Amino acid sequence: MTETIADVAEAAARGGAAVTQNHVKIFDTTLRDGEQSPGATMTHDEKLEIAQLLDEMGVDIIEAGFPIASVGDFEAVQEIAAQARNASICGLARANFADIDRCWEAVKHARKPRIHTFIGTSPLHRAIPNLSMDEMAVRIHDTVTHARNLCEDVQWSPMDATRTEHDYLCRVVEIAIKAGATTINIPDTVGYTAPRESAALIRMLLERVPGADAVTFATHCHNDLGMATANALAAVEAGARQIECTINGLGERAGNTALEEVVMAMRVRNDILPYRTGIDTTKIMNISRKVAAVSGFQVQPNKAIVGKNAFAHESGIHQDGMLKNPQNFEIMRPEDVGLSASNLVMGKHSGRAALRSKLRDLGYDMGDNQLNDVFVRFKALADRKKEVYDDDLVALMQEAEQEASNEHLKVKFLRVICGTEAPQSADLTLTIDGVDRQVTAQGDGPVDATFNAVKAIFPHQARLHLYQVHAVTEGTDAQATVSVRMEEDGRIVTGTASDTDTVVASAKAYVSALNRLITRRRRNPDDRKEISYKDMG
Ligand code: KIV
Ligand code: ZN
Repeated sequence: MTETIADVAEAAARGGAAVTQNHVKIFDTTLRDGEQSPGATMTHDEKLEIAQLLDEMGVDIIEAGFPIASVGDFEAVQEIAAQARNASICGLARANFADIDRCWEAVKHARKPRIHTFIGTSPLHRAIPNLSMDEMAVRIHDTVTHARNLCEDVQWSPMDATRTEHDYLCRVVEIAIKAGATTINIPDTVGYTAPRESAALIRMLLERVPGADAVTFATHCHNDLGMATANALAAVEAGARQIECTINGLGERAGNTALEEVVMAMRVRNDILPYRTGIDTTKIMNISRKVAAVSGFQVQPNKAIVGKNAFAHESGIHQDGMLKNPQNFEIMRPEDVGLSASNLVMGKHSGRAALRSKLRDLGYDMGDNQLNDVFVRFKALADRKKEVYDDDLVALMQEAEQEASNEHLKVKFLRVICGTEAPQSADLTLTIDGVDRQVTAQGDGPVDATFNAVKAIFPHQARLHLYQVHAVTEGTDAQATVSVRMEEDGRIVTGTASDTDTVVASAKAYVSALNRLITRRRRNPDDRKEISYKDMG
C-alpha cells in the first residue's frame, strides 16, 4: 500500500501510525516514571520548566504525571497541558473509571491530550487485584472503552508484558485495540527481557493480533540488566514506532531507557538503524543538566552521551589522534548534543559580553538585569577560582535560579572549626523570612555540626535520606555540588547547591531542601503521593 501524506498525517493525529514509516515517536516519561523514583520529586515550577524544554526539543508525547496520585501531580499535568505548544500531553491512569476521569480532567485542555491506562497482565500482577484472566479481560475492555469515549488518543499498557503468557497477551491486546486504544505499549516493567526477545515479542504481536497494523506499538524498557537501550532499539527494528524513555535514564531502580541514548544511536548509526525522530539533539545537554539538578540524581561521569567524560580524551594516544583528526576517536561531535565546541575558559578579566555569549551557548538567554546579577556572581566566583569552566557556569546559573525561588530560609553566615581536635563546631546565621537567627552547634565533623546548627535554628522532623558531594570540575579549588534528600510525612524533597567551599554548599543544599519542604507544605498540605502506580486498587 502506498501511503499519502494525508494518510500519515491522519494516522499521526489519532495516535495510530503507519509501521511502514521510519519515524519513531519519542514518548518522554521523566515527569512520571522518572519522578516516581524515590527522591526524584520535583517542584511544580521545575516540572513546568522541564516540560517546556521537552516540548522545545521535539518530544512527541510528554507523560506529565499520574493525576490521581496527588493534588500536586494533577495540577502539574493540568498546567503542562495548557502550556504545551507541540507535544501531546499524556497522563497515567490505572484500570478504573475514577483514575481515567481524573486523568481526563487534567489533560483535556491540551492541544493534543492523551490518556494512558494500564493494568498488570502477568500471572504475578494478575494476582494483585485478584482477577481471573476473564475478569481482567472484561476490565480492560470496559476501561479502554471508557477512556476512548473521553479522548481520541488512548494508550494502553499491559504492565509486565514481557512476563505475560503470549496467548493471553495477544488476547488482551486485541481487546484493547477493539475497545479503541490507538497506541499499545509493551512494558518490560522489571527490566527482564533481552534484545532478541524484545524484538520477537513485538513481531509476534504484530503478526498475531488482528488490527495490530492500525495502531502504534510502543516499547517501555527498564534498565535492571543494563539492556534498556538495546531492548528498545530491538523493538523498533521489529516494528515498534514509539520509544518510552526518560532524560538521563532517570527512574526507579536502574532507571528507564535513556532518551539521549536511543535518539543518538538512531542518528549516529542511521546506516543500520534507519529511523528518524523529531528531536533537536543540540538541546540534549541542557535538559540533561536541568534534570540532574532538579532531581538531585547526578549523572555518572562515564554515562553515554551526557556523562562528563563522554567526550573527554585523556590518554596521550587519544589526544594526539584527536588533534590529527577528531573522527579517529569521536563517533559524534560534542556540538551535536549541545556541548559547546570550545570549552573556553573564563576568568576574572572576562567581561559582560563574553559572559553573555558563553551563557547563550549554554542555553541561557537573559535580559540585562538578570545578566547584571549573574555577572556579580561570576566575578565573585572568578575571584575564588582562577579558571571558570562551562560546568562552573551551569552550577552558578542553577544556584541563581534556586535562590530566586527559595524565599523562606537563607544561609547568611557560616564559619566552621574542624580538624583533628574535637569538637568540631559551626557558627551559623540563617535568615528566616527576613529575620536573622544565629546559633553555634557542635557535631561529628563540620558538616554534621552545620546540619545541627540548621536544626537548632529551624527545628523540624524531616529525616535525612541522602547526602552527596560531587566535584563540578577538577582541582582543589573546584566547586562542589551537594545534594541533600529529606523526607517528612511521606514528602520527599531534594535540595542542591554549589560553592567552592564544600561545607557552605552543604549548608545551602540542606537549607534548599527545607525550603522545598516548606513550599510543599504551604502550597498544598495534602500534596504527597498517597497512591503509586503500583497500588493496583
Ligand atoms: O514499567 C511499567 O510497567 C510502567 C507502566 C505503568 C507503563 O511504567
Ligand atoms: Zn515503567
